[in-house]
Amino acid sequence: MNYYEKSDLAIRHLPVAFHEWEEKARHILAAGPFGYVHGGAGAGDTMLANRKAFDKYRIRPRICCDISTRDLTIEIFGRKFPVPFLLAPIGVNSILHPEGEIIPAKVCADAGVPYVLSNVSSRSMEEVADVMKDAVRWFQLYPPKDLELTRSFLDRAKKAGYSAIVVTVDSTMLGWRETDLRNAYLPFLEGHGMGNYFSDPVFRSKLEQPPEKDKKTAVLKALSEGNNTCFTWEHFAEIRKLTDLPLLLKGMTHPHDARLAIEHGANGIIVSNHGGRQLDGAIATLEALPEIVDAVGGDVPIVMDSGIRRGADILKALALGATAVLVGRPYAYALAAAGHIGVKSVIENLVAETEFQLAISGRSSLQQIDSSLLTEIEV
Ligand code: FNR
Repeated sequence: MNYYEKSDLAIRHLPVAFHEWEEKARHILAAGPFGYVHGGAGAGDTMLANRKAFDKYRIRPRICCDISTRDLTIEIFGRKFPVPFLLAPIGVNSILHPEGEIIPAKVCADAGVPYVLSNVSSRSMEEVADVMKDAVRWFQLYPPKDLELTRSFLDRAKKAGYSAIVVTVDSTMLGWRETDLRNAYLPFLEGHGMGNYFSDPVFRSKLEQPPEKDKKTAVLKALSEGNNTCFTWEHFAEIRKLTDLPLLLKGMTHPHDARLAIEHGANGIIVSNHGGRQLDGAIATLEALPEIVDAVGGDVPIVMDSGIRRGADILKALALGATAVLVGRPYAYALAAAGHIGVKSVIENLVAETEFQLAISGRSSLQQIDSSLLTEIEV
């Protein structure tokens, strides 16, 4: 098979599996940045549960099927994507690599994989848009308290060619992250993740001194904007009125919230617990997915994340009703460990492994993936 004959020696010498990337990143990064990516909230129970949930399902392949052609395409908001995954919004990429979000953005653009840029990216949304040219990108928003600032972020995103907005609502206050507490490390306090804030005219107009003169005050002001604990459905409905781009709501695991999101104008749902970084002891996303799929009843696309590591995980999520998934830590570790070639390799391997898995399960297209792919087992 071509994939085994790959001549790209640089890629051949790189890790393949997730745990290898994780170990490589652990050796390269200082304790603070590594812990920031690696850590979960509290005891880490939810982060672990996210992975364990995949063990409850086994793929039951069919045999003697024509798998000579394989179609991994999906469609969201009337747009075809070549693969059923997007890169998740991960902020503060400058703690992982000096070029920050520029690298995943470029790799995604080259591979045709959609990229979700974090609100707290180290580079501004315009810089990232410049390198992505016409490639598909979404912008993730941590809803600021200030509506004028919210409007500014949304308008900038539209102008810079982002075609959907992901509103993350599970982090209006930061989770209890013991690794970061132990390391006394919060990347924002060192000025990481301010690309969109410091370049924003509305944000700048509210500062007495520009960030270039007084960075500390500007950082604290940005953090206070994002610490939006008053945020409710009414505020989400306000955001709905501020943009005509499709809105996805990220960070839910309850079927009632899925319905409320749709009632308040969401065009898509992202079933996520932030990779286990927010509420310790919370339900795993794969466990939450089937009830949400039932509640949504096909009204809007459902994207799922938290714990996706390989092709089998992607197929399981799709079989349980997700339209697509987001991939988080795998590319963050690769970015830290090997920069551009690392992220490229992780994406290429994930695409190829998903294709292998699809074919060997006896299916030639994702349209053939449904609950009949899986059998539930006792664990
Ligand atoms: C995140 N995540 C995240 N989510 C978001 O909406 N905006 C953000 O800025 C960030 N930043 C961020 C930083 C780091 C270091 C991590 C690990 C995660 C959550 C992310 O989008 C996604 O939900 C999880 O990463 C998915 O879980 P896995 O794939 O990492 O297990």
